[in-house]
Amino acid sequence: MDRTVVLITGCSSGIGLHLATRLASDPSRSFKVYATFRDLSTQGPLWEAAESRGCPPGSLETLQLDVQDADSVAAARARVTEGCVDVLVCNAGRGLLGPLEVHSADAVGSVLDVNLVGTVRVLQAFLPDMKRRHSGRILVTGSMGGLMGIPFNDVYCASKFAIEGLCESLAIQLLPFGVHVSLIECGPVRTAFQEKFQMGRGVVLDNVDAQTRNLFSQYLRHSKQVFREQGQDPEEVAEVFLTAMRDPRPALRYFSSEGILPLVRLRLSDPSGCSYVAAMHRIGFSDKPAHGPDGAGTEAGAGTGGP
Ligand SMILES: NC(=O)c1ccc[n+]([C@@H]2O[C@H](COP(=O)([O-])OP(=O)(O)OC[C@H]3O[C@@H](n4cnc5c(N)ncnc54)[C@H](OP(=O)(O)O)[C@@H]3O)[C@@H](O)[C@H]2O)c1
Repeated sequence: MDRTVVLITGCSSGIGLHLATRLASDPSRSFKVYATFRDLSTQGPLWEAAESRGCPPGSLETLQLDVQDADSVAAARARVTEGCVDVLVCNAGRGLLGPLEVHSADAVGSVLDVNLVGTVRVLQAFLPDMKRRHSGRILVTGSMGGLMGIPFNDVYCASKFAIEGLCESLAIQLLPFGVHVSLIECGPVRTAFQEKFQMGRGVVLDNVDAQTRNLFSQYLRHSKQVFREQGQDPEEVAEVFLTAMRDPRPALRYFSSEGILPLVRLRLSDPSGCSYVAAMHRIGFSDKPAHGPDGAGTEAGAGTGGP
């Protein structure tokens, strides 16, 4: 039986690690997974997870792939022994948190380079072969931060909004090629993502005005609460990738949690943006339990802590 060849970026932790081992250990034994790493010295946790899940020999291989380096992307593609990838998962990503004025141009550039340009580099490397073969699935880890603005996540949201435009545009032109692009839109997921957040290295908040500092600490309290109470297990999110992968009629968007949807709908229902801005301000800067756009406690609070 021919196995489905899957290549995933960003497998050192979190969603990428869980998805790679979930697929490699699938009882159907129908996946060959290439789990890729910016830095191969971080592959230990993946192999520990693979062992505890009983991934059969040959179901999982690791490759170096830094989405910021086109040569490393090309080298990884050349090392896929099957010669082609059936499912490409663009998952690598990085956050940037804090008042906009504290971020250095380097920090901003690097988040955009990983999240947006890095995804483009990977797509440019693998898409031509999928188009030639008239077959392929592209899954991209999207975020509620790509569907709506989240305070103090401005640059991260800009990168993820750009990913929405990239994927939606590609999905349209790829229709005649039988290549499908799907975004897996995630709310808060309990991964190492927050620990790895760049907060503008070496930057202190001392030069930021007092009102912004106050809003930022209110937001941080709110965000921690949302992650604690509503953060999803990456294992749950991996199942959504599987659903998308197996869908005979692939959609452009899948949502990891229903909790994101009320805010998505609110945003669409008022194109002026006024309702969303007011609602998110109320939600993001409340010390009370997460509340919905109408001020009542609803599931709309889910995911409002970013990223
Ligand atoms: N966690 C959430 O709440 C959440 C919500 C919505 C969307 N997402 C998205 O989910 C994706 C995965 O994040 P996660 O939550 O699983 O966090 P994570 O555990 O921090 O995983 C991020 C992965 O991206 C990798 N990465 C960063 N820069 C890279 C580069 N230049 N080249 C290749 N890989 C690189 C990281 O590798 P290193 O360890 O080497 O840095 C890591 O393996 C991201 O795209 C993120 O935006 C996360």
